[in-house]
Amino acid sequence: MHKDHIRLAVVGATGAVGTEMFRILEQRNFPFASLRAFASERSVGKTIRCKGKAYPIEVATPEVFKDLDIALFSAGSETTKLFRDAAKKGGCLIIDNSSAFRMERDVPLVIPEINGDDIKAHKGLIAVPNCSAIVMLMAVCPISKLSPIKRIVVSTYQAVSGAGAKALAELEEQTQDFVAGKQPVAKVLPHQIAFNLFSHNTAINEAGYNGEEWKLIHESKKILHNDSLAITATCVRVPVMRAHSESVNIEFKDARPTLEHIHKALAEFPGVKVVDDRENNYFPMPLDASGKDDILVGRIRNDISNPKAIDLFVSGDQLRKGAALDAVQIAEYLVKNDLF
Ligand code: A2P
Repeated sequence: MHKDHIRLAVVGATGAVGTEMFRILEQRNFPFASLRAFASERSVGKTIRCKGKAYPIEVATPEVFKDLDIALFSAGSETTKLFRDAAKKGGCLIIDNSSAFRMERDVPLVIPEINGDDIKAHKGLIAVPNCSAIVMLMAVCPISKLSPIKRIVVSTYQAVSGAGAKALAELEEQTQDFVAGKQPVAKVLPHQIAFNLFSHNTAINEAGYNGEEWKLIHESKKILHNDSLAITATCVRVPVMRAHSESVNIEFKDARPTLEHIHKALAEFPGVKVVDDRENNYFPMPLDASGKDDILVGRIRNDISNPKAIDLFVSGDQLRKGAALDAVQIAEYLVKNDLF
């Protein structure tokens, strides 16, 4: 299909990620012949702007997909499950931000800078990985090319944007209540998030890991095509608006690369920016990463407890590279390689 003929849609257009998608489609001047915005009945009457035009929010139904070529989904797992078959029948390719189908064998799980070529095997649905996996792997991938990695230990500091637009509003509201001397009330997130932090709000499995940790572990292996990678994670929600940070310990199979080589590999990798100013104590921060496309990497140092390991710290915008930007980059890859 010629790129000027693409009939594009965003499903979940009013959400935290969906809104960001419209911004990114405009900023990157993504080529589409038509664009439609879908959400639930609650949002009918609203509009959303892109490239100087206002698009009315429509209710998504199974019938709409026969008139679409690509749909960027960010409306939760249940919504993708609801429309997957209708989209396939209608010949519409889904790029899905939910976790519904990520681990299915015939579903490519893609960070274009890392495993873009996996897109070629798609069967009508391509999944965007979990945001914490994207933020971590953008730093891990260039380092893994210097020397094979044996084990990763990661701890996350995750923004509330990952829990959606309502959670973002809740952090603001609780902060205002706290400052005004009122007791903050948790309605969307399970605990008070303002002036607090808590273990990620996903269910704990039999192994004792929460859902976010499990996704980070298993999706990383799939994206890196490395089932034998040893990886453990602790995921924590912090009172930050929209960029995730992560502390990552990487152990190599053999001797660790030099810090100089690691700096160079990171600096040359597209989508990564090294922020590692020891003199001024300036390192990746979520505020600096917010609204940016690059994943910031710093605190790069040898692990003094293990001669084969290093430590680093990353911050990345969860709504952009961690979700909406990755989805749009997958669409760009499809267009560039004539793959749908
Ligand atoms: P709505 O705003 O009408 O509820 P977030 O992750 O930020 O909470 O956003 C979730 C997005 O998914 C919203 O745009 C929401 O629309 C949308 N959504 C929820 N259920 C459906 C559905 N059945 N069909 C289409 N969009 C949906």
